Amino acid sequence: MFNVEDIRKDFPILARKVNGKPLIYLDNAATSQTPQQVIDAIVDYYANSNANIHRGVHKLSQEATDLYEAARKKIQTHFNAQHAHEIIFTSGTTHGINLIANGFSSLLKQGDEIIVSALEHHSNIVPWQMLCERTGATFKVIPMNAEGELVRSAFDALLSENTKLVFVNHISNALGTINPISYFIEKAHAVGAAVLIDGAQSAPHIKPDVQALDVDFYVTSAHKICGPTGVGMLYGKEEWLNKLPPYQGGGEMIAEVTFEKTTYADLPHKFEAGTPNICGGIAFGAALDYMNAIGFDTIAAYENELLNYATTLLLQIEGLKIYGTSSQKTSVISFNLEGIHPYDVGTILDKLGIAVRTGHHCAQPIMDYFKIPGTVRASFAFYNTKAEVDALVEGIKKAKMMLS
Ligand code: ALA
Repeated sequence: MFNVEDIRKDFPILARKVNGKPLIYLDNAATSQTPQQVIDAIVDYYANSNANIHRGVHKLSQEATDLYEAARKKIQTHFNAQHAHEIIFTSGTTHGINLIANGFSSLLKQGDEIIVSALEHHSNIVPWQMLCERTGATFKVIPMNAEGELVRSAFDALLSENTKLVFVNHISNALGTINPISYFIEKAHAVGAAVLIDGAQSAPHIKPDVQALDVDFYVTSAHKICGPTGVGMLYGKEEWLNKLPPYQGGGEMIAEVTFEKTTYADLPHKFEAGTPNICGGIAFGAALDYMNAIGFDTIAAYENELLNYATTLLLQIEGLKIYGTSSQKTSVISFNLEGIHPYDVGTILDKLGIAVRTGHHCAQPIMDYFKIPGTVRASFAFYNTKAEVDALVEGIKKAKMMLS
């Protein structure tokens, strides 16, 4: 049975005060909080097993290697990849996207086209613009509508035999829209294009099955899923990862080095130059264990309840407008109060101990679409409560009164 009060006891930070008030943490789309079980995995690693991996015959090195590779296996199982070597550890979603964008430099030419969506985070726009500058490929955009949904028919019209790559986020970080990624994958494959899905915002809410989706690349970050910052994963189909050149050169990614020629290691090591974030990888595995013990269906159902509860209450505040009104949404609410700058609302909420994100959310094209400088974004996790939503609503009313 899901009991949010029991769950909250796992998160030490939720007991602290901010500005003299109990913390109400509603910035989960920026980063999730960390349960004691994951903190314990981090402490235990440094207290008992800290050593470099894949390099030593000594006991500690072997132990650290086993823990790290066990974490890779957990990630493989969680995302249902066919092989553990299709899981590449990265420093996060942005690193994974740049790795792929860099790899495609040698595969694209003038006349090729890549398609991104209007709902992307800057990390899924800028690397592809840089790729187009390097290769002469053309950059195209799937437009969105006023609900914050991508327009499928416009995507169909953009596709052609020139389309080589399609990039869409699974869930928009700025609006919370859940995109119909199966549709995009199927249509892109029909013209022979590869598809990368940015799963930074979906991984905390949905358990994706990369084989069932038939997606070519899927990237995410551990810190959105109750893990630490500075670590993430890239899933790539084996055939694609074998085709792409390494991203960084260095130790561990080689088979043999001479001054005349270097040959590269097999997957996954080919893409993992240098000493990785070993502790982070292990803690990523512990975070998945933690989330899976609760269950993603349970998490999604509870968060959906919070979303509906909060949406209903917020819409009762006169002058409050919600951006992102798709029926397919996760627990993210972006909004503004008429005539009031989002930064000012966020500052007053902070004084009340309520943490939200304000600004363009690294998604300026979305803000441009709505002709606004930014929004206030409240994003809920499974450890938030209806009482916290009530406090948010009261805080917004107070901000409105003070700022109007
Ligand atoms: N991409 C993160 C966010 O949406 C940082 O806040």
